[in-house]
Amino acid sequence: MANTILVGAQWGDEGKGKIIDVLTEQADVVVRYAGGNNAGHTVIVNGRKSVLHLVPSGILRKNKLCVIGNGVVCDPLGLVTEITELERNGVKVTPKNFVLSETAHVVFPYHRELDGARELLKGKHKIGTTKRGIGPAYGDKAARVGLRVSDLVDPARLAAKLALRIKENNAVLKSLGAKPMSFKKVFTDYNQAGQQLKPFVQNTVVLLHDQMRAGADILFEGAQGTFLDLDHGTYPFVTSSNTTAGGACTGSGVPPHRMDRVVGVMKAYTTRVGEGPLPTENQEISDLLHGMGREFGATTGRPRRCGWFDSVATRHASMVNGIDDLAITNLDGLDTVENIKVCVAYRHGKQQYDCVPNDAEVLAACQPIYVEFEGWRTPTVKCRTFKQLPVKARAYAKAIAELSNARLFIASVGPDRDQTIFV
Ligand code: GDP
Ligand code: IMO
Ligand code: MG
Repeated sequence: MANTILVGAQWGDEGKGKIIDVLTEQADVVVRYAGGNNAGHTVIVNGRKSVLHLVPSGILRKNKLCVIGNGVVCDPLGLVTEITELERNGVKVTPKNFVLSETAHVVFPYHRELDGARELLKGKHKIGTTKRGIGPAYGDKAARVGLRVSDLVDPARLAAKLALRIKENNAVLKSLGAKPMSFKKVFTDYNQAGQQLKPFVQNTVVLLHDQMRAGADILFEGAQGTFLDLDHGTYPFVTSSNTTAGGACTGSGVPPHRMDRVVGVMKAYTTRVGEGPLPTENQEISDLLHGMGREFGATTGRPRRCGWFDSVATRHASMVNGIDDLAITNLDGLDTVENIKVCVAYRHGKQQYDCVPNDAEVLAACQPIYVEFEGWRTPTVKCRTFKQLPVKARAYAKAIAELSNARLFIASVGPDRDQTIFV
């Protein structure tokens, strides 16, 4: 399979977890390279559901090495809980199949508190974060005051560095009207988690290069989506990491010329959770999907905002990520729709846009220009080959791939591993 980067081509929750699980069959190593436990990646195998937040979605397959790379921010208590739950469900997580980078940054409770306090302060201008402390943790990393996993697993270093950080952050929290926290409690909890995680901790850059020398094929698991990227997304309504393909290099230490292919995952429609512009947002499709019990956040349970497929956005995603192949998920979500709309350009006043404008205020004021597709109005969930799909569903999938400027590679017609059609 060679080295493949998989990214979300929309606003997150495209079904990356499912496609990673499918593609892991052909890979040797799966690496998470960015984000933290703001991610929620759902994998369903034979009806059994797992939601991964930090552990790569390849973990459900045997004999695959799963790596949390240096670009990730890691909440160690969350990670310990996730590992415990996986083990309880019969998934073995050992230092042989799971490794954590010693240079990944650590998310602390003051990051979460600050995340919440800043959102409150912003009032109606809030981002709608997952409140997992992601922004403040990456902020500390950029400000060079963060703690890394290598600090977490060394009790003396953890105590010394944490004491300073708690002192500063308590002053900030107090000024924001939030509750300060006790060094002792945070230290006790984090030291314990650090010692539990210590056996998994390694220099993952060296490990990945050793793997490549041995001929391993690596799959890079993107989190969030292109339009949540700190640089390329709808700033400030974004997350705090580089979710796009370039992030796979910086977030893992594998250089660009060793990357062979980029796979983009996109839904057959559009969703977004949290605030910020979403040009094709539509009440009718939102009601339809929520009515089917779909499109509720895997991490926060919030209902996702829904809209028609936006090919201006996905074309932009193909450009920024260099997407070669596309996996279209949730095709079955449109099974009952009579007329399916696809956005092909935006209008803003007298101006027409064929690419996504950088200014979030301009984007929010853009009106989508739609073309319509006749719906297939036939269940697709049992289809297993492209030929079995209704003709109109095939035409739709091909058309949105073409409009997105990349090859159609996978059509997914249900959440389960086997509801996957290779085109
Ligand atoms: P991720 O964050 O990109 O991994 O996506 P999430 O897991 O947060 O959200 C995707 C949702 O769609 C999950 O509930 C998946 O189980 C589900 N899903 C993925 N592909 C399909 C599909 O083709 N059809 C249906 N019905 N559900 C899908
Ligand atoms: P996966 O990997 C969808 C959104 C939040 C908010 C913004 C910033 O499952 O696709 P943050 O907590 O990161 O500071 O929130 O980003 N967000 C996601 N939306 N899927 C995700 O991850 C997301 N991770 C963050 O809702 O709008
Ligand atoms: Mg998700």
